[in-house]
Amino acid sequence: MSSSFKIPFKGRGHSYSQEEIDLVVEIMSDSDTLTQGKYLQLFEQKYREFLGVDHAFAMSSATSALEIAAQLLILSDEDEVIIPSHTYTSSAYPFVKKGAKIVWADIDFESRVVNAKTIESKITNKTRAVVVVHLYGYIADMPEIRQLCTDNDLILIEDCAQSLGTSLGGKRAGTYGDMSIFSHHSQKNISTLGEGGVLVVKNPKFAEIVPMLRHNGHLGYQDQEYYWKPAMSNVDYPKINGNYIEPNNYCLGEPQCAVGSMIIDRVDSVNSLKRSRAIQFIDDLAKFQQLIFHRVDNERHNYQHLVAFVQNDKRDQFIKKMFLDKGIQCVVQYYPLHRYPYYIKHDLGEADCPNTELFFDSMVSFPFYETMKNYEIEYMLESTISTLKSI
Ligand SMILES: Cc1ncc(COP(=O)(O)O)c(C=O)c1O
Repeated sequence: MSSSFKIPFKGRGHSYSQEEIDLVVEIMSDSDTLTQGKYLQLFEQKYREFLGVDHAFAMSSATSALEIAAQLLILSDEDEVIIPSHTYTSSAYPFVKKGAKIVWADIDFESRVVNAKTIESKITNKTRAVVVVHLYGYIADMPEIRQLCTDNDLILIEDCAQSLGTSLGGKRAGTYGDMSIFSHHSQKNISTLGEGGVLVVKNPKFAEIVPMLRHNGHLGYQDQEYYWKPAMSNVDYPKINGNYIEPNNYCLGEPQCAVGSMIIDRVDSVNSLKRSRAIQFIDDLAKFQQLIFHRVDNERHNYQHLVAFVQNDKRDQFIKKMFLDKGIQCVVQYYPLHRYPYYIKHDLGEADCPNTELFFDSMVSFPFYETMKNYEIEYMLESTISTLKSI
């Protein structure tokens, strides 16, 4: 299908440098181990430094990081977790699996993310945690949301799957929450070869047990005279507040960690390239009021995705013409989660989220990745203008 597009909505966000490719090849030929080795240590160290946090753990995906975050909450079916409905399904279903009731929070129409008001209106005496998603690469109003969660004794989880490298008030996305997750899936601004994620935790007790929850419950013996007695490593069952937590295997392999440890040095430059292109595109379309973009010309937005609201119910016509007449693959993203059969079957099909419904029903997401050529951006701009004039 994608071969019929002049500009496809690509499945990958960026290219790799020759140095990054060489490192992977070297690990493939020479590395002692392909998992749990020195590149895991290096990747985590560089991530901690990049964010300025004490504990960051590489995971096989952001979803695995969310699964562990959900485990650490020790949820019961009495508990409620507030989550935006306008997000990817992984932001929510790990909490459903742990038995919580999801309460859907609405987005702010202009910024397309939740804010303190939309969250506050959903807090009840059963609320245990709030998941804030910095969707499209824009950090929500974190100082206010942090204060709200502290005042109400709620655990705050930041879903930074799309927002690595953004910052607000001198703090990076992922440093406001009690726990934060990042994604390095293929489409993200930086990818660890297709899959990968990171879990950041503030609580040192959580930090002690995350490596074992990630790696099948393994940990070293305290007093082991010889490494082979009684076995190379123990298997245990960690406890939080009197509750046992089950192990998983969510490890990330050495080639992926190695790429992550190099490519993290390029996050700021990829983000600033995408932001400057997005701002130019938005400004060049400023006089066309049929499209409403969210324009943020600073580090608060990395434009992981470039999206707009299409006025006057013309969205489907716009996408169809861009596809049929121009060969450009615009798409629609983030079906409100409460409309999916999965959530309806879990009795989570009810939501009071008017902005979510309104935005989704008229939104368009343009193809937008680091490897787009200038002439492709220009072609997309000219095509957008002529399409808007024709509908
Ligand atoms: C907002 C959001 N949360 C979570 C995820 C899950 O990330 P991963 O694919 O690394 O599990 C994604 C990935 O697309 C996402 O966009």
